[in-house]
Amino acid sequence: METANGIEVEGLVREFKKGPRAVDGIDLRVGEGEIYGFLGPNGAGKSTTVHMLTTLLPPTAGTARVAGHDIVREGPAVRDAIGVALQEAALDQYLTAREHMRLQAGMHGIPKGEALRRGDELIDRVGLADAADRKVGGYSGGMRRRLDLALALVHGPRILFLDEPTTGLDVQSRTSLWDEVARLANDEGVTVFLTTQYLEEADSLADRVGIIDVGRIVAEGTPDALKAEIGRPTVEAAPLEREDIERMGAVLRRFGSPQRAERNHLAVRLDEGSAELADVVRALDAEQIPVRELEIHAPTLDDVFLAKTGRRLEGAAKEGEESAAESTGELEAVPA
Ligand SMILES: Nc1ncnc2c1ncn2[C@@H]1O[C@H](COP(=O)(O)OP(=O)(O)O)[C@@H](O)[C@H]1O
Ligand SMILES: [Mg+2]
Repeated sequence: METANGIEVEGLVREFKKGPRAVDGIDLRVGEGEIYGFLGPNGAGKSTTVHMLTTLLPPTAGTARVAGHDIVREGPAVRDAIGVALQEAALDQYLTAREHMRLQAGMHGIPKGEALRRGDELIDRVGLADAADRKVGGYSGGMRRRLDLALALVHGPRILFLDEPTTGLDVQSRTSLWDEVARLANDEGVTVFLTTQYLEEADSLADRVGIIDVGRIVAEGTPDALKAEIGRPTVEAAPLEREDIERMGAVLRRFGSPQRAERNHLAVRLDEGSAELADVVRALDAEQIPVRELEIHAPTLDDVFLAKTGRRLEGAAKEGEESAAESTGELEAVPA
């Protein structure tokens, strides 16, 4: 794997004195121009990993090379090669976007003329041209995130670290940020290390995903390969008459284990796979339960997380759908 503009991590550990072993021995490689999605729940160790790889925090053990440079012994060379947008963007609310760009360019020693040109170009690219001379204090969360991304790009980094770049953003801001990240990787060959709590983000944006939980990588691969490993699909069904929901649940449970489902729906992961679907239909028919809806779903990254950890990635499944029911681990119907 190409590592000149990539990332190589071996046995990386970070222990906090009065805290947990936040990162507990991780290994990973990210190739040039690849988008690596680091997916995990709150407290999994994502930010601690980013802080180590960007030289903001020394590791307790292990090694990592970023752009071919050792993160402990060659900090300045690493910092020259990378752009970083942290989870908490450090923006000054009394400065405008253009003033932020100028300061950032100055820190990287970029000559004034070039700094102005590059600053305007980046502000334009992240869609802040109309707000360029407004103070950041009046920006929305999405605008702040986009400015922070532009700031991270001012010196033309070959590797970009984004720590939860879309957490808390509305769907539209999230999608436009995805587009820009994909463009950077695909058109400019920038290597991207991106952390997220959103399955959908990892699934649609990342070439490869590492799933981290309690400081350890529990699964890694392309989203398709990870889902294929799970294999078995889920059947989701709704009865025509709401009072049939209990009886329908009893039938479905014969075919697999209960899963989270939409409101007034029931779901099971099929023990034997999609071949069972016909048997499910026949069984419902035999019990004389009229069916309003019956669907088969391929596995998601949430199913991968569940299989590896025994838990759901909290609040992430059915993201954005208001009809989503909370995970109960039981078949349960929520009245409309
Ligand atoms: N400076 C610190 N001191 C003590 N514990 C910390 C510190 N920073 C993070 N932690 C702990 O390390 C774990 C991982 O945190 P973090 O890397 O921020 O997770 P994530 O970014 O995945 O939400 C958490 O249990 C967190 O409370
Ligand atoms: Mg974090």
